[in-house]
Amino acid sequence: MGVQNFPRRLLLSVSTIVALLANQCLATPQADVSDLPAHLEALRPKYLPDFRNLAEQIYNHPEIGRSEFFAHNITMEYFQKEHPGLWEVTPSILKTLPTAWKLEYSHRPSDWPEDKPLPIVGFMSEMDALEGIGHSCGHHLIHMQGLYAASLARQALIDYNIAGRLVHVGTPDEEEACGKHDLAVAGVFEESQVWLMCHPTISSDIQPMSWRDNIIVRVIEKTHFEAVKAVYNMLVPIRNLIGKLPGTNSTASIVEDVGMFVCNVVEADIALGVVGPDIATVNDTINAIKSSNAGYVTTNFTVAKNAKIEGGIDIMFHGNAGHTASNNLGALDMSVDAFQALNASDPSFEFYMPDNTTSSELDFTVDCRTRWTDEGRDVINAVLPFITTKNYVLDVEYPALEIDPYLGQLFVDTIALPEYGKQIWPITPLAPAATDAGWVQQAIVNSDHTVKGFGKAVVHANYNICPSNQTICPFNHEPLFRPLAGLDFAYQETEKVARALAQIAVELLNDPEKMAVATKDIIAGPKKRV
Ligand SMILES: *[C@@H]1O[C@H](CO)[C@@H](O)[C@H](O)[C@H]1NC(C)=O
Ligand SMILES: *[C@@H]1O[C@H](CO)[C@@H](O)[C@H](O)[C@H]1NC(C)=O
Ligand SMILES: *[C@@H]1O[C@H](CO)[C@@H](O)[C@H](O)[C@H]1NC(C)=O
Ligand SMILES: *[C@@H]1O[C@H](CO)[C@@H](O)[C@H](O)[C@H]1NC(C)=O
Ligand SMILES: *[C@@H]1O[C@H](CO)[C@@H](O)[C@H](O)[C@H]1NC(C)=O
Ligand SMILES: *[C@@H]1O[C@H](CO)[C@@H](O)[C@H](O)[C@H]1NC(C)=O
Ligand SMILES: *[C@@H]1O[C@H](CO)[C@@H](O)[C@H](O)[C@H]1NC(C)=O
Repeated sequence: MGVQNFPRRLLLSVSTIVALLANQCLATPQADVSDLPAHLEALRPKYLPDFRNLAEQIYNHPEIGRSEFFAHNITMEYFQKEHPGLWEVTPSILKTLPTAWKLEYSHRPSDWPEDKPLPIVGFMSEMDALEGIGHSCGHHLIHMQGLYAASLARQALIDYNIAGRLVHVGTPDEEEACGKHDLAVAGVFEESQVWLMCHPTISSDIQPMSWRDNIIVRVIEKTHFEAVKAVYNMLVPIRNLIGKLPGTNSTASIVEDVGMFVCNVVEADIALGVVGPDIATVNDTINAIKSSNAGYVTTNFTVAKNAKIEGGIDIMFHGNAGHTASNNLGALDMSVDAFQALNASDPSFEFYMPDNTTSSELDFTVDCRTRWTDEGRDVINAVLPFITTKNYVLDVEYPALEIDPYLGQLFVDTIALPEYGKQIWPITPLAPAATDAGWVQQAIVNSDHTVKGFGKAVVHANYNICPSNQTICPFNHEPLFRPLAGLDFAYQETEKVARALAQIAVELLNDPEKMAVATKDIIAGPKKRV
């Protein structure tokens, strides 16, 4: 499927082959790891329960980006107090990102030359949740995945006496302000050329991830009513850019914090008030909007008189949160359409936020995405003309993550083994979402969008956690993803993918030729993009 878009497999150059052969001659004999898949599976009962327990605690104690102190602390306590001596533990590795941590382990067989550096593989764990909707992106599962995979790999190095060094980094704030950017700039990923992780979603694919950047807008007017009108006068044309944006698969979604109040953080519920029309007019206007567009089939609204504002009609919109599309319009879309229609019928109508009718400052975010990093700026430039205030900032960008041809295929081959349930994973060109792991990989892409090279070799495997008997599979960031991410099935699937990553790590450390091929597309040093 769509394999033609797949980055070309880079051929081994003559110099690489010479280097590989030289490496082979010098290398200590490789361990026989033919029973590695079975061996890792046998380690499951020893390692899984503890890490599942930590993940469940994190699931029940969600923390948003940069405030993951509970997750950080229970992890540090586990390795420093409850199981000391397994790993070298560094809590709070960055002053500016105190919830990030690092674990290190080296296994050096007695016959390993003293001056010869150990091969290294890195693992990552995310742990942040979403404002208002908890672990609706399943990062507690990624916490378990990273620690479990690293611990299995560590045990295998000991059991097979394989020389190698493992690094595990707890990477905070994947969702909001790009924690891996801070870690990358601080050089935390420099140590290893290979970084492994996986992410739960509703299908299993090796696939790229899109570019993302947020425009964070603050609107300050003289009155609350003017502020609401100013915000919606921007939201209407931005929302109407759907399908007209430059780039590939581009979106500019108005998300989160429309208004300053928590009830609006999740787009499942949006509240808007209007003064001027009578209640029947408001009701009829929005009923007409709803019935004229099939995309609104699961989105609805109620109207009611406001107790405090004279003539005020509160409109409460309720619909699917998160990812709206032309066939799935949400509460915010309906509020934008309602504003447009009411304002057009009489420009003297006034609008307010029913939850707080005094604030004269409102904010909103435009989440801009497109497939390729080099087209990101075009999308931003298409949106900015509609931001009619200078009071905005651009967030840290999330570079697109590209498929790593060698490691992607190695993962597909590994997960197809019987020990992992003979899973058939496609390698697909469609980018379903964005990830800050783009900052770890730092792909360098040619103008024709073929991959020129990478800063680091990264696996970011997206795997399904929705059981086949489930009638609907809500996507990440929709509130109903959260219960999916707490099912036994989700932990079981995470366990398999994590174990496959452990196998890949051990194979790379054991086999200098595999490691050389896995790292051959690395272009010296990542670009320092700030
Ligand atoms: C985490 O540990 C730090 C340092 O010991 C402590 O100050 C903080 O209160 C702890 N936070 C949580 C949420 O456990
Ligand atoms: C709202 O009405 C005013 C006055 O007619 C108009 O200038 C503005 O463009 C309208 N807003 C939208 C989003 O259509
Ligand atoms: C994304 O873009 C590609 C290439 O233009 C196209 O084939 C694909 O259908 C698009 N996918 C979506 C979800 O829009
Ligand atoms: C709004 O319209 C709906 C559908 O016609 C109707 O059931 C409801 O009673 C109306 N509400 C008000 C307050 O007029
Ligand atoms: C509104 O839509 C939701 C989800 O589609 C549905 O569960 C709910 O019953 C609807 N409410 C009303 C009042 O129609
Ligand atoms: C309304 O918003 C303002 C400004 O953000 C805040 O100071 C005030 O406490 C809020 N009022 C209520 C009732 O939430
Ligand atoms: C659905 O599938 C999951 C995982 O296979 C299983 O644990 C669960 O019991 C099933 N639920 C029902 C209602 O069959």
